[in-house]
Amino acid sequence: QRYPAEPWRIKMVEPITIPTREEREHAIRNAGYNTCLLRSEDVYIDLYTDSGINAMSDRQWAAMMTADEAYAGSSSFYRLEAAVQEYYGYPHVVPVHQGRGAENILSRSLIRPGSHIPGNMYFTTTRIHQELNGGTFHDVIISEAHDPFSDHPFKGNVDIDALENLIQEVGADAIPYVSVAATVNLAGGQPISLANLAEVRELTNRYGISIILDAARAVENAWFIKQREPGWSGHSVAQILKEMCALTDGAAMSAKKDSYANVGGWLAMRDPELAEKARNLVVVYEGLHTYGGMAGRDLAAVAQGIVDSVQEDNIRARVEQVAYLAGCLQDAGVPVVQPVGGHAVFLDATAVLPEIPRAEFPAQTLAAVLYLDSGIRSIERGAVSAGRDPATGENRYPKLELVRLTIPRRVYTQSHMDIVADSVIRVAKQGKAITNGLRFVHEPEALRFFQGRFEPV
Ligand code: F0G
Repeated sequence: QRYPAEPWRIKMVEPITIPTREEREHAIRNAGYNTCLLRSEDVYIDLYTDSGINAMSDRQWAAMMTADEAYAGSSSFYRLEAAVQEYYGYPHVVPVHQGRGAENILSRSLIRPGSHIPGNMYFTTTRIHQELNGGTFHDVIISEAHDPFSDHPFKGNVDIDALENLIQEVGADAIPYVSVAATVNLAGGQPISLANLAEVRELTNRYGISIILDAARAVENAWFIKQREPGWSGHSVAQILKEMCALTDGAAMSAKKDSYANVGGWLAMRDPELAEKARNLVVVYEGLHTYGGMAGRDLAAVAQGIVDSVQEDNIRARVEQVAYLAGCLQDAGVPVVQPVGGHAVFLDATAVLPEIPRAEFPAQTLAAVLYLDSGIRSIERGAVSAGRDPATGENRYPKLELVRLTIPRRVYTQSHMDIVADSVIRVAKQGKAITNGLRFVHEPEALRFFQGRFEPV
């Protein structure tokens, strides 16, 4: 079994080493059984995220060398602005240091105490900015998204009835915008269809509500539309991306994903008034409105990264590599979220470790066990990531209790994927014998998965 050969060759390499079993035991204990607290030098294959650790192209590096570091009016900003306008189609572009910078400014601009924000599944950083500004998030994704084994081709779709019911319940005035993610990270990197997005547009138009796109992985979403949605196979990924954006009023972007940049992001919109508000806030929280917390070289890397990202052979190799790893696991009977998403393979931790109760965090445990087995770093995406309900203080137990094997773009080869598959299969075979989970010994208040520490129960 293979996937299409990468449409690039390797010009620079970074040595990696395999820590010994003893070193791994020491490292995971020191990290409080949280893969997030491991030191990178203790990791063999790093599948923690696809964010900011992608390999840039020689064109991106070249653009960085000739970038403009001017404090005000950098030509690299204007290059980025032009790229966002050309490929995403929004007229106003506000640069930010990364995605959550855009979420902060967007939430401060539009959310008031008592606001309600519907979205196709929560994302950690997105929801916390909504909550910190007094808003309440409502999940309006279709129910198939919560079923790891449903093979619905567009599990990122919005449940139109649920959205309309919410609008009628809380009133259109209390909904500043609908937050639409493409793809949906925590559902497993699942796409939303253009037909569904058009329905959301039609419904929100009737009530005068905006749509803001989380565009972090919108290019991957466009690829899935091209593959799966009737009528779109003849269009380019670039055309589909623009079509998606045309159905929305603005976007928050983490350029650390699709755009291959080590850091960076932007907030874009059609409404000049919102743009004015956002520019006023960006100078407070990020930096001047022509750099937004990025160096000139970062602006340049993102601008060129946007151009790279819609190249079809790039995006094909990326998505097929993820599918290859999932295929190896499925062939061995390991339960992975269906269909395979764009940026990661998600393991169903409750199925792999059936003896560990939810209160002992099976996904957190599985990530630690995988690291111990092979030095591979994955990330928990279950109850630990979901945090506590701000109203009740209780743990939130989302239906999906997952471990994410996230594949950075253009970084690892097929042999690395084979090693990952071998390790996951080995651990899954021992799964039933693992009966002890983890409990918190230190639990941070915000985004607890990043810095929380655990001990074995
Ligand atoms: N939206 C989505 C869908 C994301 O996946 C992320 C980040 C953000 C917003 C925030 O962007 O990190 O640039 O501030 N996701 C990373 C991940 C951290 O590992 O999934 P950021």
